Amino acid sequence: IMTTHDFKIVILGEGRVGKTSLLIRSIIEYFFCQRTTGLYVQNGFTELQQSTIQASFLKKKLNFGSTSVCLHIWDTAGQVRIARLYIRSKKKKEGKERKAIDGAVLVYDITDNASFDKVQRWVEELKIMAKRDIVIIMAANKQDMISNQRIDAAKAHSFASKIDAKLIGTSAKTGEGVETLFLELTKQILNQ
Ligand code: GTP
Repeated sequence: IMTTHDFKIVILGEGRVGKTSLLIRSIIEYFFCQRTTGLYVQNGFTELQQSTIQASFLKKKLNFGSTSVCLHIWDTAGQVRIARLYIRSKKKKEGKERKAIDGAVLVYDITDNASFDKVQRWVEELKIMAKRDIVIIMAANKQDMISNQRIDAAKAHSFASKIDAKLIGTSAKTGEGVETLFLELTKQILNQ
């Protein structure tokens, strides 16, 4: 018997930190997984470029044995106002309910101090907007530029443990950590 789960995920962070690049890279990594480890994955990508809502949506299917997981990942272009629309679970006028988020990926760029401050502000925002405890994973992106690192890794790790989040070093350029990021997120949500 197959059990299927649909998880709603938002990917958040300052502009230019690499949110979209991580998502694009994850498609390649998942295909790679599929061939080497037999993990079954199906990916689809749609750009929604409506004038009022600027967000892209990526759907990722993963099978872990008899458990099938579909991640619905919203990439909201770093705009708080727009991201809020996706985080809030809200009864719509027609009575349809928008699904609450199950997890968030908070991305910062290790070469950019402001992007780390922004992650801290997103945590506050999530506390207010998500109605329940959600799984948070922090991505310390652009690890390939470690020689320009501005955010002290120890400081970042201590912040992550304070908010009960895993911190994973990633590079959308080399692929480092990207696979781990999404698998870790999924496993944590499944174990909640
Ligand atoms: P917005 O759409 O503005 O919110 O940006 P974003 O967070 O989606 O970032 P995006 O993926 O568009 O990447 C921004 C820039 O950073 C691009 O020039 C990418 O090529 C670059 N970039 C993203 N990830 C990495 C990385 O891991 N390493 C390096 N060196 N560059 C990266």
